[in-house]
Amino acid sequence: MIGDKKILFSGMQATGNLTLGNYLGALKNWVSLSDQYECFYSVVDLHSITVRQNPAELRKRARNLLTLYIAAGLDPEKNCIYYQSHVSGHAELSWILCCFTYMGELNRMTQFKDKAKKHSDNINAGLYTYPVLMAADILLYQADVVPVGSDQMQHLEITRDIAQRFNSIYGDVFTIPEAYLGKSGARIMSLQDPSKKMSKSDENVNASVYLLDDRDTILRKFKRAVTDSMASISYNEEQPGIRNLLDIYCACTQKTPEEAVKEFDQKGYGEFKMAVGETVADTLAPVQKRFEELSKDKEYLDKIIKENAEKAGYYAGKTLRKVQKKVGFPERIR
Ligand code: TRP
Repeated sequence: MIGDKKILFSGMQATGNLTLGNYLGALKNWVSLSDQYECFYSVVDLHSITVRQNPAELRKRARNLLTLYIAAGLDPEKNCIYYQSHVSGHAELSWILCCFTYMGELNRMTQFKDKAKKHSDNINAGLYTYPVLMAADILLYQADVVPVGSDQMQHLEITRDIAQRFNSIYGDVFTIPEAYLGKSGARIMSLQDPSKKMSKSDENVNASVYLLDDRDTILRKFKRAVTDSMASISYNEEQPGIRNLLDIYCACTQKTPEEAVKEFDQKGYGEFKMAVGETVADTLAPVQKRFEELSKDKEYLDKIIKENAEKAGYYAGKTLRKVQKKVGFPERIR
């Protein structure tokens, strides 16, 4: 707890451009959680270097991501928005937790197996211990809740296991975090293959709408969105393309699928796709405008970055000192 609020931690990687799926599925919900919880939202750049990055590119993307957090509506005075690399406690705690994590556990991580396959020329130890760093992120702030997508559930489980193991040896050091399963975000699928999640790393640029795509690009991508040959707009499993478009429309308008289906009843697919495209463009426009404004205000952003890194460092330091003492490191002489 900080004050009378429970603590929430989440983070995103600055690899690839954020998609509409990241926005509707995660970021938009983060905003709605920020009144209820004391929130730490990190740009997890330490995680990013588990695969090769171009340094200038990584720096730029990280700044854009941090700016987008704010542009999407997260108030940086209320939420701690910061770069993971600015708080050294993440790496320090990660090392300690590595010594409390079994290789057998890490061997079971499906994301590691996937990534090792994808980056077979660079299966480094960081990729392998990625879940431990993620555990350190969460435990460092004594987070009660962690909003994550289903692809990260296994990492949250291992976080809980590591925390419980540590606590059973040293007493109550870590809060055991829960997945945030409240009003879950929309699960947005690829526009080109509705059986796959919309992804930042999709090679097909038409599969994903990026948060910073301009209106024409957005409309063009929706025009090309894959549907089916059933020529009817209804919400069911046999029509995953149409259902995805309805999900997107509903997430933008807060309407229910039933309302949306009624609205587009009798309409052709072409008209429906354009309407969804327009709605998405309208939804993203204010975020894009704010992003442009913020990007120009270097001084303001720098101040936010500095202050929030200090705030994060303060809470991280408290946990880290406790952990260091528990495992037997000597006290510092002041
Ligand atoms: N691994 C997460 C992802 O790729 C990002 C992440 C890193 C994270 N640390 C975290 C998410 C801590 C939640 C909590 O999506």
